[in-house]
Amino acid sequence: MINSSDFQQLISHRRSIFPRDYTGTRVDDGIVKQIIENAHHAPTHKLTEPWRFVVFTGKGIQKLAAFQAQCYKQVTERDGTFRQERYEGLLTKPAQSSHIISIGMKRDHKNSVPEVEELGAVFCAVENMYLTAAVHGVACYLSTGGVTYFPEAKEFFDLGPPDKLLGFMHLGMPKEWPRPSRRSPVEDKMRWVAE
Ligand SMILES: Cc1cc2nc3c(=O)[nH]c(=O)nc-3n(C[C@H](O)[C@H](O)[C@H](O)COP(=O)(O)O)c2cc1C
Repeated sequence: MINSSDFQQLISHRRSIFPRDYTGTRVDDGIVKQIIENAHHAPTHKLTEPWRFVVFTGKGIQKLAAFQAQCYKQVTERDGTFRQERYEGLLTKPAQSSHIISIGMKRDHKNSVPEVEELGAVFCAVENMYLTAAVHGVACYLSTGGVTYFPEAKEFFDLGPPDKLLGFMHLGMPKEWPRPSRRSPVEDKMRWVAE
């Protein structure tokens, strides 16, 4: 069995670490594959395995950056919300990461389970990714910014109309590992009924 104190330590050691705090060193592809392999072990109702990942690295990161900046421009120029600064961020910021993994949820043809369960399964997969990165000393964070909620972006990430793009996992080597994340008292979030 797994040592429970090591596991406990891993849970509190896990952090979101942002691209500005990456060294620029490339993460080993083998670790990235392990991160995805472990995502694939997440719980999934009726074994639908709704998670879908596209890994961008090297020139692939430039392709992602070009795509998301262009997509943002097209959509926001149409509705009048375009901001040049945002466009430039989408074009240049991806280069800070070693790998960026798009996180998608694909509906099965039979709609076997409610959508909310598929979304839950994908976020379970995301937590497995976070923990695997942490155990290898790799920094990561989930971003739900950029083109995440643009229906126009889905196709680029192998997703169709019933599917959802849920965000982007950014990976890099950390300049340093931050202290454990703060949380409010857990007692505020639970109630026991024992009698
Ligand atoms: C569903 C989800 C979406 C998130 N989206 C963003 C985001 O768009 N931008 C961001 O800076 N952090 C995002 N995060 C990361 C949170 O900011 C981070 O988890 C939080 O600050 C707590 O820090 P920790 O993960 O180190 O405990 C997201 C996290 C989750 C679970």
